[in-house]
Amino acid sequence: MDRIRIVGGHKLHGAIPISGAKNAALPLMIASLLTEDTLTLENVPRLADVIQLQRILGNHGVDITVQGKQPGDVANRGATLHISAARIVDTTAPYDLVSRMRASFWVFGPLVARMGEAKVSMPGGCAIGTRPVDLLIMALERLGAEIEIEGGYVIARARKGLRGAEIVFPKVTVGGTHTALMAATLARGTTVIENAAREPEIVDVGECLVKMGAKISGLGTSRIVVEGVSRLGGARHSVLPDRIETGTYAMAAAMTGGDVLLEGARPELLQAALDVLVQAGAEVSSTNEGIRIARNGAGIAPVEVTTQPFPGFPTDLQAQLMALMTRAKGTSHITETIFENRFMHVQELARLGAHIHLDGETATIEGVERLKGAPVMATDLRASVSLVIAALAAEGETMVNRVYHLDRGFERLEEKLSGCGAEISRISG
Ligand code: EPZ
Repeated sequence: MDRIRIVGGHKLHGAIPISGAKNAALPLMIASLLTEDTLTLENVPRLADVIQLQRILGNHGVDITVQGKQPGDVANRGATLHISAARIVDTTAPYDLVSRMRASFWVFGPLVARMGEAKVSMPGGCAIGTRPVDLLIMALERLGAEIEIEGGYVIARARKGLRGAEIVFPKVTVGGTHTALMAATLARGTTVIENAAREPEIVDVGECLVKMGAKISGLGTSRIVVEGVSRLGGARHSVLPDRIETGTYAMAAAMTGGDVLLEGARPELLQAALDVLVQAGAEVSSTNEGIRIARNGAGIAPVEVTTQPFPGFPTDLQAQLMALMTRAKGTSHITETIFENRFMHVQELARLGAHIHLDGETATIEGVERLKGAPVMATDLRASVSLVIAALAAEGETMVNRVYHLDRGFERLEEKLSGCGAEISRISG
């Protein structure tokens, strides 16, 4: 199993290109199930999760060609995928595939909408909490699907197609909103989604669906209205920049000090996180090329942050912010309201010398003068990268084990950080 070795203490200086967003690329690939025509996606990050989803879609009969770089392409731009679901050969998503990646459950909505049936394994628990799918099932039920749960599978049938309905989510859910939105595009009549998620990745998927011929209004608001159409066609769409990758490298730059340009990043995608970084003492400015983060001389100030659905501070940056606050001059509080068990990084940060106390959903972090390198291990993607951030500022060597978590969501992480002066390398085997 690969490991990552980091020797801390180097300031970051330079530029980091921001990749396409994993959490938009995955549902965009799934949206291909809604049409017989080819969906072309550009700027798709080359990540383990994307490759895994290619396998899952392949199982349904979807044909995917990955196009190499074109002459004149911007360096480091992601791959272009031509995805054709002309013939869906299987409407079952089996346990061994769904259990490896939760987002693969999202094939459920498009399969029922286009094929009138789907049998998808319940995803089960995961490292960041229980993460049920009851609201995704509720959305399809509202759209007229008959649902049965049998042998760990959710089976949905809508032989005569789905019909528009009002779907009111009792809590904001990204996966629930993706499912309702995609399924409603092919339902008969009008669907109103209330308390919809406003995450930029939902807007990106919605904009792609519009290019495919869907009739959608209210994207980016908590009330989305969809007029169903009888068929969708092909389209070409470029995946938006990854706001979580952007925020992660912004925290890394704030942690080590230095000056980094996050190329292609868009500030409006993570304003809440940038505001917190300013409070913490970083200088943040946006330019035509992206976002610049600098911290020169000034120490890190403590902050009080609660995770919220977009436009609030994202849960997917909570672990990274906690790593940054381990070196603040004072005490910070971070409250996690989205996932109840998303604190697995706390024990590992403590191995590097952090002082963190957990009380229910709130972590109290007392900043320390110095962190010291140690072997660490992580249980999920964002937790792993928080250890990388802490290690960049720790004295001596840190070995991060179970790197496959990082490979699920961060494209060329070592290359991007070492390009800015970090001492970081992968040890294979
Ligand atoms: C998406 O997960 C993201 N995944 C997560 O990113 C992200 O942390 C999360 O949204 C919140 O922003 C992808 O986009 C692939 P939710 P999702 O449904 O859709 C509860 C990462 O690191 N809930 O918005 O699964 C749920 O338990 C990942 O990239 C129900 O109760 O999250 C949670 O408390 C991790 N019933 C809350 O809603 C349901 O049926 C929000 O979850 C569905 C969700």
